[in-house]
Amino acid sequence: MDAIFKRRSIRKYKNEEVSDEKIHKIIQAGMSAPNAFATNEWEFIVIRSAEGHKKLEQSQKWAKSSHNASAVILVCGDTTKETNEKLLVQNCSAAVENMLIEATYLDLGSLWLEAYGSDEFVDNLRREFNIPKHILPIAIVAIGVADQEREPHDKFYEENVHHEVFK
Ligand SMILES: Cc1cc2nc3c(=O)[nH]c(=O)nc-3n(C[C@H](O)[C@H](O)[C@H](O)COP(=O)(O)O)c2cc1C
Repeated sequence: MDAIFKRRSIRKYKNEEVSDEKIHKIIQAGMSAPNAFATNEWEFIVIRSAEGHKKLEQSQKWAKSSHNASAVILVCGDTTKETNEKLLVQNCSAAVENMLIEATYLDLGSLWLEAYGSDEFVDNLRREFNIPKHILPIAIVAIGVADQEREPHDKFYEENVHHEVFK
């Protein structure tokens, strides 16, 4: 699938609008990801306003890279629907990857920004975006019109592939 191999992290965006229809499609792709026990615990917060962007930049130290992105989607998991945090993180991450691939397919740039990996980012996001305690921020996904060209890169390494047993 071309979109998988074409996808790159985009850290410069043109100040151009991405339609609600495309954002809807990208979230729909996220919700089409596999999900352990079909708990569908994912929650998506769509941020488009200048104020929202500012709050993101204050919450996550690399979020400046999403400047001008038409939408930034905060992917969270509901810990009451999936109580096993390890599964929740995998489920939400599967959704994030689907979103990035769909965005690439739609000729849009995208970027996965860390949330869950940092308690500080998680606390900041909770505070700035009114996220209750039972909702766990997992990732920040920037979507927009790319203002940089990034060539696909081949990251296939034979030495990382093992047959039958780990060698
Ligand atoms: C869990 C996760 C967290 C990431 N967090 C950030 C981030 O906070 N800032 C950033 O610029 N890129 C972030 N990235 C993107 C990676 O830096 C990027 O995927 C990697 O450098 C490979 O480049 P590529 O996406 O163009 O293939 C993150 C990626 C993942 C999977």
